[in-house]
Amino acid sequence: MAETKLSSFKDERWSLHGMTALVTGGTRGIGYAIAEELAEFGASVHICARKQEDVDKCLEEWKRKGFRITGSVCDVLSRDQRQNLMKNVASIFNGKLNILINNVGTSIPKNLIDYTAEDVSTIMGTNFESCYHLCQLAYPLLKASGYGSIVFISSIAGLKAFPLSSIYASSKGAMNQFTKNVALEWAKDNIRANAVAPGPIKTVLLDSFMVCMLC
Ligand SMILES: NC(=O)c1ccc[n+]([C@@H]2O[C@H](COP(=O)([O-])OP(=O)(O)OC[C@H]3O[C@@H](n4cnc5c(N)ncnc54)[C@H](OP(=O)(O)O)[C@@H]3O)[C@@H](O)[C@H]2O)c1
Repeated sequence: MAETKLSSFKDERWSLHGMTALVTGGTRGIGYAIAEELAEFGASVHICARKQEDVDKCLEEWKRKGFRITGSVCDVLSRDQRQNLMKNVASIFNGKLNILINNVGTSIPKNLIDYTAEDVSTIMGTNFESCYHLCQLAYPLLKASGYGSIVFISSIAGLKAFPLSSIYASSKGAMNQFTKNVALEWAKDNIRANAVAPGPIKTVLLDSFMVCMLC
């Protein structure tokens, strides 16, 4: 049966016309689907990922479909690149951001005993530290929009224990708690924070995890 997208319900209550959104990691998988869905609801969307050619390819596809989506290269593991990303976003959206989707995530599936210090820094830096820093950077823009919403793409692994995912799971557990603190601190600024915890979704990330499970 054909998939029914939420945006096919044209009820004005769900319209995002006039809204601006940043989706990290929007060139494939869950981030790609979120960017497209937000654009279908009428939002102006900016995405980022690490490879210029992937960003360009996606922007070309979306242009053909008539969506207002821009994009730039950013490795969210880099503090400098996160700062540049938010400068870009501020300039494109005139200093106002309604929606921040912290979607980028990575995993290095291993047994607990085998993790190196570098693995831990990569996973925590990509999945958790980047989110907290992007929230800090986005704060003035979210506040200026008058109606801000942050969505963290967490995981069921942040709630239940699965094999080969102790550090990934911990990064998502930290994200779940951080979401509550952001919601508490920024409610006064009309900024909401929510986490979504998907189960398995067939993407490149899941495929790489499944390969390790079968090794
Ligand atoms: N798929 C699942 O089963 C599942 C389940 C629960 C939760 N999730 C969560 O959902 C989110 C998206 O996962 P996905 O399955 O859609 O992953 P994916 O298919 O691997 O896509 C990840 C996206 O993020 C980008 N990206 C990765 N590392 C980046 C970095 N350091 N800086 C900037 N961009 C980066 C990728 O592009 P480049 O690599 O080219 O930069 C790509 O656009 C993650 O947070 C993941 O933990 C996924």
